[in-house]
Amino acid sequence: MKSKESFPFFTPSPLGNGYFGDFGGRYSPEILIPALDELEESYRKFQNDKGFQEELHHLWREYAGRPSLLTKAPRLSEAWGAEIWLKREDLNHTGSHKINNALGQALLARRMNKKHLIAETGAGQHGVATATAAAHLGFSCSIYMGEEDIRRQELNCFRIKLLGATLCPVSSGTATLKDATNEAMRAWAASSKDTHYVIGSVIGPHPFPSIVRNFQSIIGVESKRQFLEKTGTFPDAVLACVGGGSNAAGIFYAFLNEQKKTRLIGIEAGGESDIQGRNAASISFGKIGYFHGTRSLYIQDSFGQIEKVHSISAGLDYPGVGPEHAHWASTGVAEYYRVSDQNALECFQEVSRLEGIIPALESSHSFSFAKELAQDYRKTHKRKGRFLICLSGRGDKDSAEVQRILRDG
Ligand SMILES: Cc1ncc(COP(=O)(O)O)c(C=O)c1O
Repeated sequence: MKSKESFPFFTPSPLGNGYFGDFGGRYSPEILIPALDELEESYRKFQNDKGFQEELHHLWREYAGRPSLLTKAPRLSEAWGAEIWLKREDLNHTGSHKINNALGQALLARRMNKKHLIAETGAGQHGVATATAAAHLGFSCSIYMGEEDIRRQELNCFRIKLLGATLCPVSSGTATLKDATNEAMRAWAASSKDTHYVIGSVIGPHPFPSIVRNFQSIIGVESKRQFLEKTGTFPDAVLACVGGGSNAAGIFYAFLNEQKKTRLIGIEAGGESDIQGRNAASISFGKIGYFHGTRSLYIQDSFGQIEKVHSISAGLDYPGVGPEHAHWASTGVAEYYRVSDQNALECFQEVSRLEGIIPALESSHSFSFAKELAQDYRKTHKRKGRFLICLSGRGDKDSAEVQRILRDG
């Protein structure tokens, strides 16, 4: 392992015009346009600013604990007949990849002279990450969270309050992530003069999807280098779960030029069944639409209304996907599959038992698909597959809910 100093950190990438092929753009109410313009202008300026980069590198390294480890999972590899490698985003401060983006945006907000941060959250990990960044950098903070997710993620709600943020329960709609995002956007529209909205995934109007992907791309930059150092080669496939798609976009981005060697595989929430309303697999079942300010794939009814969705994991329980993933799916740059609640739940337990790592329910979806893929490589390619899984977060937050499900069914 190289010293921390020798690791690359934030690499500025062009913001572009906000479109990824046919997807993306900025379809927002008039009232938000000045705030989005201000954000775009500031990001373009500060991402190339040496002082900004150094401060972000310092926070990621000294506060969040980057670079995160990349390690082989020996017992899973043996049990599944594959080489399983893990990018350990679960070891970051606050327990998931969400801190990478929260620190980046909070630092940007400080450069923009904002005093207050708001964020939406589903699993609570982005809420915790934003509340943490706010506490560390001296912002006041409000976190919007659906009441259903508050029930499922009690521990993270306590952490958010402990960190000094205000938790704003949202009871509209299905009281999950999409409703929390609606409320956070509404609150931002009314307060953008002194408030920055730290969006938690690669969703929303331009420039958010590009900004979040750029901050999360550190996952892929580190992974590619670590994997090469440890194995002298590339993985056959990189796997990541897809809610809005930020951990997947972050790890995929560095491998986009390695298409011939490495498959990029996103795993959506297959939920309880393929019936509309019982899953959250927006690439598998979504149609093109406009929601939360961007053109992408959404699960909708025949009138184009956003449908309710379901996943065992609050972080994947979103009816759409980031526009860059919609583009990658439509052009074949990445492949997307789905894993059911039941299979994710089984892997949550199997990975804990076999590896001594309790994965987040979100990440458990990626493990489950890797297990299937291992069989496929042995059968079809007559060899062991070599897979890199983005372990996006740790499962402590899910333990009480899983305990309840295992007890009550
Ligand atoms: C641990 C973890 N993984 C994955 C996700 C899904 O988000 P994204 O698709 O933006 O990475 C979440 C969302 O809360 C999460 O907490």
